[in-house]
Amino acid sequence: MNDVIVVASGKGGTGKSTVCVGLSVALVKQNKRVLLIDCDCGMRGIDLMLDTSEEILFDCSDAVRGNCSPNEAVYRSKNLLNLDLMAAPFDTDNEISPSVFKQLVDSLKGSYDYVIIDSPAGIGSGFMTAAAPADRALIVTNAEPTSLRGAVKIRTKLSSLGITDSRLIINRFDRKQFGQLGCYEDLDEVIDRAGTRLIALIPLDLRLSAIMQNGCAGLNWSPAVTVFDCLAKRLGGVNVPLAFEG
Ligand SMILES: Nc1ncnc2c1ncn2[C@@H]1O[C@H](COP(=O)(O)OP(=O)(O)O)[C@@H](O)[C@H]1O
Ligand SMILES: [Mg+2]
Repeated sequence: MNDVIVVASGKGGTGKSTVCVGLSVALVKQNKRVLLIDCDCGMRGIDLMLDTSEEILFDCSDAVRGNCSPNEAVYRSKNLLNLDLMAAPFDTDNEISPSVFKQLVDSLKGSYDYVIIDSPAGIGSGFMTAAAPADRALIVTNAEPTSLRGAVKIRTKLSSLGITDSRLIINRFDRKQFGQLGCYEDLDEVIDRAGTRLIALIPLDLRLSAIMQNGCAGLNWSPAVTVFDCLAKRLGGVNVPLAFEG
């Protein structure tokens, strides 16, 4: 099996990169071979989150331009054995066309169980590139109207691209804040409005944020880790609980 999954959101800052790293780590723990591709051209961050930025000489745009072979742009993460990373280009001048990016991913995916692609926010050209090789999608939202509108836009855009297998991740959820916001009756209303089945509910977890900003060391110490473990299983079709009920 090689399953290519794009992680997307309409609005920026919903937690796509955090989900990509947390999910990839969980999959690796379950002995899956994972390639994590940062496709946020010009705004890359996953190399920092995996404490691998010093090693990176080539990124995915070098691979498509022939500056290196595809495999030379794949780096093994320092902290997490068996997690491979391909970085996004540092500057926006190096945007990649959807068809060329799909060719690159197609040439690599045979060596992996999962290829996880971190998309830039929105439905622009960067998103189109990130989504091009994907079999399915994870749509990350926060439980608030602006973020949710973005989730609906992304789902609609994905469908128009032929990617109909999408699941919703509600991130940074805090029951008290949710109540104080007063926008929705309950979580069911959020899910109904998104029009996408829920696959994970991730708590607001400041420790997770601190760990991700510090090269991912100590990820086991965060409350959100169990949620990522369950998400990894659910992606593989195993029927386990969400792990966090909010
Ligand atoms: N569940 C969470 N709890 C607390 N902070 C989070 C959570 N998920 C993400 N964050 C923080 O929110 C910010 C944006 O997350 P990031 O993953 O970079 O979003 P995106 O990739 O969608 O722009 C970062 O500071 C990150 O550490
Ligand atoms: Mg990001």
